[in-house]
Amino acid sequence: MFTDWQAFRAAFLNQLQSMHGKSLEEASPEDKYTALAVMVREYISNAWVQTNKHYENKGEKQVYYFSIEFLIGRLLGANLLNIGVRSEWEKWLAELGIDLNQLENEEPDAGLGNGGLGRLAACFLDSMASLQLPCHGCGIRYKYGLFEQKILDGYQVEHPDNWLKNGCMWEIRKFDKAVQVKFGGTVWSEEKNGKLVFHHDNAQTVLAVPYDIPVIGYQNSTVNTLRLWSAETVQEDFDLLAFNQGNYVKAVEYKYSIESISEILYPDDSHYEGRVLRLKQQYFLVSAGLQSIVRRFKKKHGSILDFAEKISIHINDTHPAMAIPELMRILMDEEGLSWNEAWQITKNTIAYTNHTILPEALEKWPVDIMKSLLPRIFMIIEELNKQFCSHLWSHYPGDWQRIASMAIIADNYVHMAHLAVVGSYSINGVAKIHTNILKQDVMKNFYHFYPYKFNNKTNGITHRRWLLKANPDLARLITNSISPSWIYYPQYLSTLLRYSEDAAFLEALDKIKETNKMNFANWVHNKYGITIDGSSIFDVHVKRIHAYKRQLMNALRILELYTRLKENPNLEMVPRTFIFAGKAAPGYFLAKRVIKLITTLAAVINNDSTIQGKMKVLFLENYSVSLAEMIFPAADVSEQISTASKEASGTGNMKFMMNGAVTIGTLDGANIEIHEEVGDDNIVIFGLTAKEVMNYYQNGGYRPWELVQSDTRLRKLLDQLVNGSLPVPREEFRVLYDSLVNSDEFFVLKDYAAYVEAQEKIDMLYRDNSRWNKMCLSNIAHSGKFSSDRTISEYAIGIWKAKPVVIGDILEPY
Ligand code: GLC
Repeated sequence: MFTDWQAFRAAFLNQLQSMHGKSLEEASPEDKYTALAVMVREYISNAWVQTNKHYENKGEKQVYYFSIEFLIGRLLGANLLNIGVRSEWEKWLAELGIDLNQLENEEPDAGLGNGGLGRLAACFLDSMASLQLPCHGCGIRYKYGLFEQKILDGYQVEHPDNWLKNGCMWEIRKFDKAVQVKFGGTVWSEEKNGKLVFHHDNAQTVLAVPYDIPVIGYQNSTVNTLRLWSAETVQEDFDLLAFNQGNYVKAVEYKYSIESISEILYPDDSHYEGRVLRLKQQYFLVSAGLQSIVRRFKKKHGSILDFAEKISIHINDTHPAMAIPELMRILMDEEGLSWNEAWQITKNTIAYTNHTILPEALEKWPVDIMKSLLPRIFMIIEELNKQFCSHLWSHYPGDWQRIASMAIIADNYVHMAHLAVVGSYSINGVAKIHTNILKQDVMKNFYHFYPYKFNNKTNGITHRRWLLKANPDLARLITNSISPSWIYYPQYLSTLLRYSEDAAFLEALDKIKETNKMNFANWVHNKYGITIDGSSIFDVHVKRIHAYKRQLMNALRILELYTRLKENPNLEMVPRTFIFAGKAAPGYFLAKRVIKLITTLAAVINNDSTIQGKMKVLFLENYSVSLAEMIFPAADVSEQISTASKEASGTGNMKFMMNGAVTIGTLDGANIEIHEEVGDDNIVIFGLTAKEVMNYYQNGGYRPWELVQSDTRLRKLLDQLVNGSLPVPREEFRVLYDSLVNSDEFFVLKDYAAYVEAQEKIDMLYRDNSRWNKMCLSNIAHSGKFSSDRTISEYAIGIWKAKPVVIGDILEPY
């Protein structure tokens, strides 16, 4: 810790000079950012080394969280906060004429994830370190993150997200810890001393090089590791012959084909991608990750037979499910264990979280692709399938249908969720309703067979990033009112309820929201040149664009409200600003048309002076962690309107709640538990229940066309999409119109009337300022349950059996 400003100043200037050869006056904001980041790294370097040493020497159980996505966002601000120096350094920097926020904005967002699943993994890392748990992340160091979204002429355009362009300040390349991963080739076996020995010939060998990123706990000296793997050519493997013969293109092609494995994150979170490269990425991740874990384990522990006692591997959805056959392969082919020994260890080591029931997201891989790309892995899966099916046969003799529905390999596909269930000791869903749907519906046969494996772990978010850092004024008010205990025990936020009738407190809350909204409005004005009314309701719908999330329902209501306002400019309503943000998968045509609809509405409404600014519509480009940190503190209304049963949990809903926004939502995902916490008076619930939705599905859906025929209001509204009244070619939104009237798979029309009514209720509630402030308070006070600290404690106790490890007070190298 620097004793005073002088010491800090000297260190900072020294850093600028040695890194960039510049004085303070000459240094650019980026130079200053990198200098400060290096100071943070030095600050924690000792604690990082000590944490690792401690874990190795004490031999406590280690947990590795395998995920194809880690949406970590920016790290400087969060790291300063967790170290506990943010406000002091901010002040000292200001004395040097430097705005810390500006430096933070210099950092590129590490967008190594699509949405909720990847951001959950990032929140989990923060909670693991803050709870002093020996848990680490394992992922891929994609050179390009999720695409950068631009809106051009109202359409989404995708640009590469070159987040590593200027390097990453937090990673450390550990070349000496690289491992080799093999693809393709042929596998043959021979018997040696009564044992089968497998040989893998003519494989393509890829070098997996780890880059470690420190994960700093909240003021506790724990520094865990997020290890991201990068694909490189094995030196001697480089096509030297081609190169020497002058065939440079061929040589480079080879290099590129290897490096492409960690080149780009698939910008798709819902559709099955039949691409070999994706399968390669999945195997690359699990093989590199497991090899390094086994190597480290063997260095310190005696017998590999104790592996499951000392290690838990968590697979975040099915993308890393090949950890199951890969661990079997390592234990048998490299460690010489028998099939049964390896199987005992594997199924007691791996735990699996399911994140969605959308059928198109349940991964399956064609047998022929897997067989040729991963011959040994496929052999193991085949054997697992054989043993599992014969096991099933002895339980359910003759029940072919059931067995076929549970087989790992069926219809020439490898079913990854089945593999994950069979090879794990724990399977959890991410909210109560989601887990129940898994048990009773999507995985009911598995639940019948393995009831003891299934459990629920409702998601959470880190309150440190999403409240303490994102909303400093609110955090200060809370701390001043109830002490800082809530930072360590977020459930303590409930003591805020004692201020429910305290006019001064409610007033203060109101002021903070107002300031956050003004700041946001200024940012919008600077970036887009659009003026929004800070006293209007900020009604926010931010998340991936997907039909089941029903941005279309929101857009239809906006269109209807606008039409009514045109007909009656004196319509009584609180002015509203509708804020959208989110990316659509590049190949998801319908979702992209929804963006175009929203931007079209924005263009019409924002430029119509006859409605006297009562409505504004924004579609903010390039939704990211950093943008989210600005939006949540400024939101009044949180749109959580997915078709009931479809959103496994949602985590945006929790971030809004924690920042005092009121949810308008369906009884879906974690909305149900938010409702349970805050009660009927502090949330606006509407629409079909999951049961009703599922009943419709079972009976072949409903007939939207009949509904439209019998409902003049709906008919008129839908006509506006296709009758030329919007300033786009007449057929532009035909696809949206058709999807609604022909099948309406996500019940937009069926829920529409209830949604409009719920929105009118919001309007009424907002008019009563004191009532609204109480609702905000109730949401904040009940949000403690949704801290990922609670979630991670439940994983640690209920699944991993991992205990906290206290490192000691060493977070001060200077
Ligand atoms: C997926 C689900 C979402 C959930 C998230 C984290 O993105 O669609 O509902 O919140 O995973 O579990």
